Amino acid sequence: MTIRISQTAEVQQFFEGACGFDQAGGSQRMKNVVHRVLNDSIKIIEDLQITPEEFWKAVNYLNELGSRQEAGLLVAGLGLEHYLDLLMDAEDEQAGHVGGTPRTIEGPLYVAGAPLSEHFARLDDGQDPGTVLYMTGQVRDTDGVPLANAIVDVWHANTGGTYSYFDPSQSEFNLRRRIQTDAEGRYRLQSIVPSGYGCPPDGPTQKLLDQLGRHGQRPAHIHFFISAPGHRHLTTQINLAGDQYLHDDFAYATRDELIAEIHFSDDANGRRADIDFDFVLQPTAAPKDESRHVRVRALEA
Ligand SMILES: [Fe+2]
Repeated sequence: MTIRISQTAEVQQFFEGACGFDQAGGSQRMKNVVHRVLNDSIKIIEDLQITPEEFWKAVNYLNELGSRQEAGLLVAGLGLEHYLDLLMDAEDEQAGHVGGTPRTIEGPLYVAGAPLSEHFARLDDGQDPGTVLYMTGQVRDTDGVPLANAIVDVWHANTGGTYSYFDPSQSEFNLRRRIQTDAEGRYRLQSIVPSGYGCPPDGPTQKLLDQLGRHGQRPAHIHFFISAPGHRHLTTQINLAGDQYLHDDFAYATRDELIAEIHFSDDANGRRADIDFDFVLQPTAAPKDESRHVRVRALEA
């Protein structure tokens, strides 16, 4: 017979005390959140009959996750980051914020403060022998009006599937730039075709995915923040057509409208790839919607 004590007055009172409900100081919001987490945790322990061995394994897992800096990877892999997108989409729909390029997950690998250029930027430092990529497109509003001086903040992995800053072997801000659009709302960039990548195979995220019978691979993709005064900030990424993981992304970032065709060709300089992709922003009268969500990001003040 399962023993249950979580809902007794004694245990309830005990955890209310642990959450500081009887203390004047602290944050009421935090007290409410922690109380809910503790209440749901003890229900899980009883409902699933979590053993002490499993409990301490979970505690140790949190330590591992932190020491490897993989909490951001795990929330993507478990679909929680995609769930936040779905929730924001539903809120937008209810508020009548429709149209434009869909959002998708930011992931944990943005670095603030990449060099800013006008109209064009080369993203790579010339050290990676990947296929040369030329990408261009236009930033418009939902009425089709081109947005001059919009900022296209772009970042992607190298051919080894790693990102500068997090991979110290790459030069500073390699494959990261901010590009201001021209009078026609256009941006152009030169880079190298990124590779898809997976979770570190020896890390805690992959260890959990293994237990779920899942892989930890992503298709090749390019991340973007698109912003312009008077318009809602867009966090998105394009996923490259033809990748074997395009519709099997462990982080669930692929959306149909964000699949970018990539055209390979050969010219006098060798093999090249071309992508044409436009971004459409929703207008806003709320200045706070022009900025990305606040979260801890590398080099962000
Ligand atoms: Fe990424």
